Amino acid sequence: MFSLPKDMKFFRETTTGKTVVMGLNTLRSFPAGKPLKNRTNIVLSPVDAGAGTLTVHDLKELFAEVKKYPEDDVFVIGGASVFRALLPYCTEAFVTKVDEDGGADVFAPDLDADPAFECVSESEPEEDNGHTIRFCTYKNRNVLRFL
Ligand SMILES: NC(=O)c1ccc[n+]([C@@H]2O[C@H](COP(=O)([O-])OP(=O)(O)OC[C@H]3O[C@@H](n4cnc5c(N)ncnc54)[C@H](OP(=O)(O)O)[C@@H]3O)[C@@H](O)[C@H]2O)c1
Repeated sequence: MFSLPKDMKFFRETTTGKTVVMGLNTLRSFPAGKPLKNRTNIVLSPVDAGAGTLTVHDLKELFAEVKKYPEDDVFVIGGASVFRALLPYCTEAFVTKVDEDGGADVFAPDLDADPAFECVSESEPEEDNGHTIRFCTYKNRNVLRFL
């Protein structure tokens, strides 16, 4: 697994004070399985995700919930199954690319292979804890609306 302080800083600065949407496995991957501080944590899960989270059981419940927040304040943060389900509804995607796979066993969808997504910015490569990373922004040209 990677430890990428610059990426974590970007993630923290982007999502603090906002709403994050994740799957149950992603919640359980956090330290002590606890939700992220200073954010509204919405968890897609078949079972109650626990204290400090708001559990939604399917996309219908999720969409009813996220209508309560400004659209630009809702961030889908993974994992792979939740990215697959929700990327079509996202207007924008922030992707930090690393030049290695880190031995991961699940992967986010490849937006370069998705004709709906256009890369609109890509930073110069930079070093982060011994890895080379690039910050990329994609726009979704074909956003599915759920309202
Ligand atoms: N590097 C990164 O930036 C990053 C970010 C996030 C996560 N991750 C990694 O990704 C891994 C987790 O990914 P994952 O794909 O295994 O799991 P996940 O998407 O985090 O969570 C899967 C869980 O969410 C539930 N779920 C997903 N979609 C749902 C839906 N539409 N309705 C109801 N429930 C739904 C699933 O329910 P069911 O059991 O009913 O299917 C399952 O219990 C972890 O290892 C984590 O560390 C990495």
